[in-house]
Amino acid sequence: MRMVDLIEKKRDGQELSTAEINFIISGYTDGSIPDYQMSALTMAIVFRGMTERERADLTMAMVRSGEQIDLSQIEGIKVDKHSTGGVGDTTTLVLGPLVAAVGVPIAKMSGRGLGHTGGTIDKLESIKGFHVEIDNAEFIELVNKNKIAVIGQSGNLTPADKKLYALRDVTATVESIPLIASSIMSKKIAAGADAIVLDVKTGAGAFMKTLKDSRELAHAMVRIGNAVGRKTMAVISDMSQPLGYAVGNALEVKEAIDTLKGEGPADLTELCLTLGSHMVYLAKKAASLAEARQALEKAINDGSALEKLKVFLSSQGGDATVVDHPEKLPQAKYTFELEAKANGYVADIVADEVGTAAMLLGAGRATKDSVIDLAVGLVLRKKIGDQVKIGESLCTIYSNAENVNEVKQKLYENIKITPEKVNPPTLIYEEIT
Ligand code: URA
Ligand code: CA
Repeated sequence: MRMVDLIEKKRDGQELSTAEINFIISGYTDGSIPDYQMSALTMAIVFRGMTERERADLTMAMVRSGEQIDLSQIEGIKVDKHSTGGVGDTTTLVLGPLVAAVGVPIAKMSGRGLGHTGGTIDKLESIKGFHVEIDNAEFIELVNKNKIAVIGQSGNLTPADKKLYALRDVTATVESIPLIASSIMSKKIAAGADAIVLDVKTGAGAFMKTLKDSRELAHAMVRIGNAVGRKTMAVISDMSQPLGYAVGNALEVKEAIDTLKGEGPADLTELCLTLGSHMVYLAKKAASLAEARQALEKAINDGSALEKLKVFLSSQGGDATVVDHPEKLPQAKYTFELEAKANGYVADIVADEVGTAAMLLGAGRATKDSVIDLAVGLVLRKKIGDQVKIGESLCTIYSNAENVNEVKQKLYENIKITPEKVNPPTLIYEEIT
């Protein structure tokens, strides 16, 4: 087989066979296929696309390029949740303990990554003593005992995807539904989940800005998952404004605790109940979505979800007393209120720009070596559709720097107020099974 013939084949709009896709991915992983040929192929894929069969084959070839996590020692159906990214997305912190409380095993592998705020692990590390440096045996034992544990990302998961994503990033070939869908799905499948619930975001703060693109990506991922034997469904949810109120690390931990107490923001609570219901249903811990939702609501109301959070934190060295005493979380030195300059209604809170404001405060990483400030960030006091009066706070800024003029300016530019009444955005657009 020659790579040049396969590039030509895709360039001319033909379908690549399973053997050809395996040849490409193993050759690219071991270095026998050079970057210049791989970039020609990915550009051909951007223009020509891939059939459903090709997408599933590409996904599985990338899964086989590295380590595959074996979760077979964990009892029950392991369901993983993946969000395509957003601003102030606190769902993982809420969903883990929440669905574990109704008996769904959560064996979460999580990362740090770049972004407006840290990843799930960074957020959890704002709890004193909490750590994810546990070995596989302990990880499995904890999930069997408590139904929930989090471990750091293994070094050698889907190396083909790592190399290919980096190449796409510098060759203008990220924007391809088949390539994005197989990239995301390969990582979830290699991490060992039996079933996958996808939260595909749409809007300004999302990777996919339009509903049409988000829908196409969601369908592509659901089809790949189901084609390779992992029950997969997707929810398309709003990311035009940040989810919940908090954008930051310790601030989002506090928001997750509030939500598990039943006192969280309405949108975050609703999205967690929706995603959680699908997780519980796929794990066969409820006979219907309605029954699953009832079980989750009960776990919030009777305190068992909050209790599960405490057990989870203390089992991994964390100080569980923060759950009852959130003032023990890292605290910023200064707080500032962003006062509304006009009467009216909040018309827009541009999610990605608000994320950038949090990053200016130090809540996120610009490069992989940046150090995160866990205490800082933003707490919105208003959301789209809310009425505001001059002088009322739109947002509280938590900072360790005395001067936040640049942050304030960015927020004023991106929290828009109009005199006319505004409807809040749709939270959940679609549920695709
Ligand atoms: N996220 C991924 O993991 N892969 C892509 O290709 C795009 C976004
Ligand atoms: Ca939030």
